Amino acid sequence: MALFSIDGATKLTGLIGSPVTHSRSPAIHQYWLQEHTINARYLAFEVAANNLKEAVKGAAALGFLGLNVTVPYKERVLDFVNSIEEDARYMGAANTLIFSGGNIHAANTDVYGIVANLTQDGRCLAQLMKRVMILGAGGAARAAVAACAQMGAVEIRLCNRTLENARALAKTVQMPVEIVPWHLRESALEGASLLINTTSLGMKNTAALDLDLAVLPPDALVHDIVYAPLHTDLLQRAKTRGNPVLTGIGMLAYQAQKAFELWHGVRPAVTDALLVMAAGNNT
Ligand code: ATR
Repeated sequence: MALFSIDGATKLTGLIGSPVTHSRSPAIHQYWLQEHTINARYLAFEVAANNLKEAVKGAAALGFLGLNVTVPYKERVLDFVNSIEEDARYMGAANTLIFSGGNIHAANTDVYGIVANLTQDGRCLAQLMKRVMILGAGGAARAAVAACAQMGAVEIRLCNRTLENARALAKTVQMPVEIVPWHLRESALEGASLLINTTSLGMKNTAALDLDLAVLPPDALVHDIVYAPLHTDLLQRAKTRGNPVLTGIGMLAYQAQKAFELWHGVRPAVTDALLVMAAGNNT
């Protein structure tokens, strides 16, 4: 696909956070901008905490269509927006800002990303949502819990190293969540229909997730939000014992799909080619 040129009408979008240099979002958005021949660009901006407000207001003043927001600003950014969409309000965090008519609107497309990734390939939701086990209690876990609650989870087990963090997260959900202490994470896999790792364990240059899968039912779907590497140790071990597995790259692609649609009014396709490109050298 030929590169298109920049001119006086080129619109800007981008990502703010710290750090941002590892992000795959510029590559994903650029791929779709070219595919749809949209005269816009998506750039990553490393923003210091004391410049956050100026950065957002400045981008809005410069006529950016919007910004993605990543760690550590997803919560703080809500302090200076004009309106907040339902998922962002529920999560107390935004990953997408839309600038329009002088207003800053906050949205959260992470929940959509998790739902869309899990429901692709015609998976049976009723089967998947019987007993969900989620590892972790950070921002990604919060989105995963909200997504599973939206998808009608019958039972959610939340297991985290720091029990207090899991308790605090469970309080924000409008359904009962069973808190599992970290040392009981293996026995709590019994009867699970879906296992989601939202901890950073397994990420490149991080310790692997220490989790024996012996009691996990063989038909349980194992999903890792970690996508670098794409095929984490957890997913490889799950696959070896015959469990269906789902990598984390789709979640990244689908949250981007919704942000792209909010800015450009077109819903781009999440194809195998896009996912391979998005995974980059991390496979
Ligand atoms: P994110 O916003 O991407 O979810 P985060 O808020 O930093 O990231 O959350 C990281 C998660 O990984 C947390 O659940 C963290 O557990 P704690 O709440 O106990 O900090 C979990 N985590 C990180 N390192 C871990 C480790 N070595 N063992 C177990 N859990 C770990």
